[in-house]
Amino acid sequence: MENLIETIGLTKRYKKQLALNDVSIHVRQGEIYGLIGKNGAGKSTFFKTLMGLAPEYSGEILLFGERSSAELNDARQRMGFMMGANFFPYLTARENLEYYRKLKGISDASEVDRVLKLVEMDQVNKKFKAFSMGMKQRVSIANALMGSPDIIVLDEPINGLDPQGIADFRKIVQKLNKEQQITFLISSHILGELELMATRFGFIHDGVLIEELDRETIRNKTEEKVVVRTNDVEKTAYLLEQQFDNIDYTVNSGQEIVISKMTDRVDEIAQLIVNNELKLYKLISQEISIQDYYLNLLAKGGEQHV
Ligand SMILES: Nc1ncnc2c1ncn2[C@@H]1O[C@H](COP(=O)(O)OP(=O)(O)O)[C@@H](O)[C@H]1O
Ligand SMILES: [Mg+2]
Repeated sequence: MENLIETIGLTKRYKKQLALNDVSIHVRQGEIYGLIGKNGAGKSTFFKTLMGLAPEYSGEILLFGERSSAELNDARQRMGFMMGANFFPYLTARENLEYYRKLKGISDASEVDRVLKLVEMDQVNKKFKAFSMGMKQRVSIANALMGSPDIIVLDEPINGLDPQGIADFRKIVQKLNKEQQITFLISSHILGELELMATRFGFIHDGVLIEELDRETIRNKTEEKVVVRTNDVEKTAYLLEQQFDNIDYTVNSGQEIVISKMTDRVDEIAQLIVNNELKLYKLISQEISIQDYYLNLLAKGGEQHV
């Protein structure tokens, strides 16, 4: 799949502070890419550098496969960027966006209505100051949507949203991703906020991109499961099916039985195998959460890069 955003060894220094250290990121077409990192990790710096707002850097930026500075400038026209845009409190959403439409030089006057519909704010006529956090966030997304970008970059868009606001935000992003084929790059310092939304994750720590992983890989690494290896995979599977109703398992390439959930029944599984005179070679119970996985990764990254 094509990388819409790619950096090669991107490095950015503010005087003494190394804010980005050799970052090579890959955001593919159609993804909702979650960039996860603590405060000060370098997320905003990365976005600013990507968008051409922090000109001094080393390494390479490729947008839509283009890398020369003229081509990058054109490519940035196809990207909507939101990092805490300012809106006028006494204007409505429509009036605010009308202002930004003109500022961006978008001549089509119907554009404001189009983007307000996409975020389901076209029927709201209150002034911006009376909006909930969630509504403000939707206006920000609408602003990023003007001009029909192929990519939308959102820096910590979920800050300050309540759980309902987060759920609404997720719904909108997923809808735009699916129906408008917009690729998203979204940062957060809280993994849980993007856990259900992102299709791929990049973990950044002290300016270093520690790992890029897709959701499936993370799920495999974090799902609750019990892994069993015996001397007879078929007989073991048969016994498990007999013993446990609705058991959900697969057999992996190493002839191990991987059982979903059931981490609270490991002792029963062990007994079943031993009682039936099978040899038990391996029995692992994995209860790691995605949050644990992330913290482990940071601990490792911290060691490697201090
Ligand atoms: N304009 C700046 N001048 C000097 N240092 C900066 C500047 N902006 C950010 N930094 C530093 O760069 C590092 C990364 O910051 P930032 O990109 O804002 O992280 P994040 O968005 O992940 O919280 C931090 O150590 C921060 O203090
Ligand atoms: Mg930031």
